[in-house]
Amino acid sequence: MQPLPTPPPADPHSYAQGPALRHLQLALTVDFAQQTLAGSATWLLAEPLAAAATLVLDTRDLTIEGVQAGLKASDVPVSYSLAAPDPVLGQALRLELPAGTAAVRIAYHTSPGAAALQWLAPTQTAGTHPFLFTQSQAILARTWLPCPDSPGRRFSYEAAMEVLGPERGQLLALMSAENPQATALDGRYQFRQPQPVPAYLLALAVGRLDFAPLDARTGIYAEPATLARAQAEFGEMSAMVRAAEQLYGPYRWGRYDLLVLPSSFPFGGMENPCLTFVTPTILAGDRSLTSLVAHELAHSWSGNLVTNATWDDFWLNEGFTVYFERRIMEQLYGRPYADMLQVLGEADLRHTMQEMGPASPATHLRLHLAGRDPDDGLTDIAYEKGCLLLLTLERLVGRPRLDAFITEYFARFAFQSMTTDHFAAYLTQTLLTPDEASQLDLPAWLDGPGLPPGAPVAQSARFAAVYAALARLAAGAGPATLQPITTEWSSQEWEHFLRGLPPTLTAADLGRLDEVFHFTTSGNAELLAAWFPLALRAGYAPADAPLENFLRHVGRRKFLVPLYRALLATPGGPARAREIYQLARPNYHSVATSTLDALLGA
Ligand code: BES
Ligand code: ZN
Repeated sequence: MQPLPTPPPADPHSYAQGPALRHLQLALTVDFAQQTLAGSATWLLAEPLAAAATLVLDTRDLTIEGVQAGLKASDVPVSYSLAAPDPVLGQALRLELPAGTAAVRIAYHTSPGAAALQWLAPTQTAGTHPFLFTQSQAILARTWLPCPDSPGRRFSYEAAMEVLGPERGQLLALMSAENPQATALDGRYQFRQPQPVPAYLLALAVGRLDFAPLDARTGIYAEPATLARAQAEFGEMSAMVRAAEQLYGPYRWGRYDLLVLPSSFPFGGMENPCLTFVTPTILAGDRSLTSLVAHELAHSWSGNLVTNATWDDFWLNEGFTVYFERRIMEQLYGRPYADMLQVLGEADLRHTMQEMGPASPATHLRLHLAGRDPDDGLTDIAYEKGCLLLLTLERLVGRPRLDAFITEYFARFAFQSMTTDHFAAYLTQTLLTPDEASQLDLPAWLDGPGLPPGAPVAQSARFAAVYAALARLAAGAGPATLQPITTEWSSQEWEHFLRGLPPTLTAADLGRLDEVFHFTTSGNAELLAAWFPLALRAGYAPADAPLENFLRHVGRRKFLVPLYRALLATPGGPARAREIYQLARPNYHSVATSTLDALLGA
């Protein structure tokens, strides 16, 4: 075994080194019975090697079967070695490429425990067929293919996927690429992503899926049982794409489609190019949770075009995207709606900062994740503090100038990566006058804790009614008397209302609220996730079964972590939490179980 190569300082979460790679050709079979992907990844070099060179790729839990270098005339075997595994980073794969190499093919297969992959049994879907999906961000692409798994390295790709097994004719395969719209009887699919993308944007899903177009370039894929609901819920998607283009320039990825996953999907959404993946928990029935689609769409610019160079720069992806998301929502639904989203986001941020503590380096925008799992950096800070920096710039220079700057930023750095330092320099050179620069304490924003003094604080006119309702309740009014105030409320007002309820409410109080507002039986996952902790704290028994049902069917980590925490804090809770977790765990993706195992001591 060779010693571990030193990771390049540029990205502490990737071992990738050596000649530049231009294009990937993936050829894999999808085997539901074995729960493996098997085949080969062929990497085309940017140019044929003038001299022998070492190429280092990232892998984790892969079985390498053989490596061949493609030369002009013939293929030659390549000597390779796998370094000792690191639990987070995996194993560096070192390839000794001879002079003249133009391409290198690695034959391999994945392991059933591959962290990016979730293989679902039919009972874990909305239908009667098995399902597979990947989640590559942040550094899990390496668990399903050998690759330079760093957001700073991009390549175009094509793929030939073959679904195996008796059900192959009913399963549709989709990727973060140009996609088929119908199932192929022979289970064979071809994909092409002509734009260079980083490895974390590689994605694959296979399942019994139907397609419904929305307009000429947008549409929805979902399980048959979910498609009609999804079509109704996301009817505004084409308008969102148009709004985004009006704000910050042309959409550069061809089609924009949505894939609604089974409920175990561990995130709300994932911005896979051409095909955003979303949780079905945003199917509220009233289009009230679609800002999540605006968010993933916005990543088609912030993140997918201009990409954080390393996970320390994650805020460049997410902070811009949250700002952009709210601008899209403002365009579609008006300022009062966007203001509610902003106030809710700021409340989350304050809560997170309080938990982290006033001096915590985790509250800095620029992170230092070397030696840790980049998943640790996935907090509200990148999202909401990042967005607040952009709102600060908006206040400083005005929208017209900021919008022109952002449009130019996306155009100028399209298909490139961006570091926090480069962004800071570009900002100071191209947007800010010296006087403005002196008013903005950029170092405090980027490398300081908490929020710099004078950070903007949003106001929501619509939330005035929420405060009024809360005040009346506090003064002893019965829930039924609130109804004139609450009739027109959207999901956001209800969310703010539930978060604003005093933690001292008793089970009887909750019962009275429930009688009028039916929180326990709500079909809105955000409201359930805000209601259950109150119910747990008060020992409100009618919510017990619905909570258990929720935990057993929903795999979205953002909901699971606070709910299990709240459950653990109740009398008898730890035992019950472990009992439910044991039943529910097979339904969760590794992204969720890795967090929950730690929480529940499993
Ligand atoms: N790209 C993220 C999800 C992500 C980040 C996955 C880091 C793995 C590592 C996605 O765009 C996202 O932010 N999703 C949010 C929803 C959004 C509306 C805040 C989520 O899943 O909750
Ligand atoms: Zn995001």
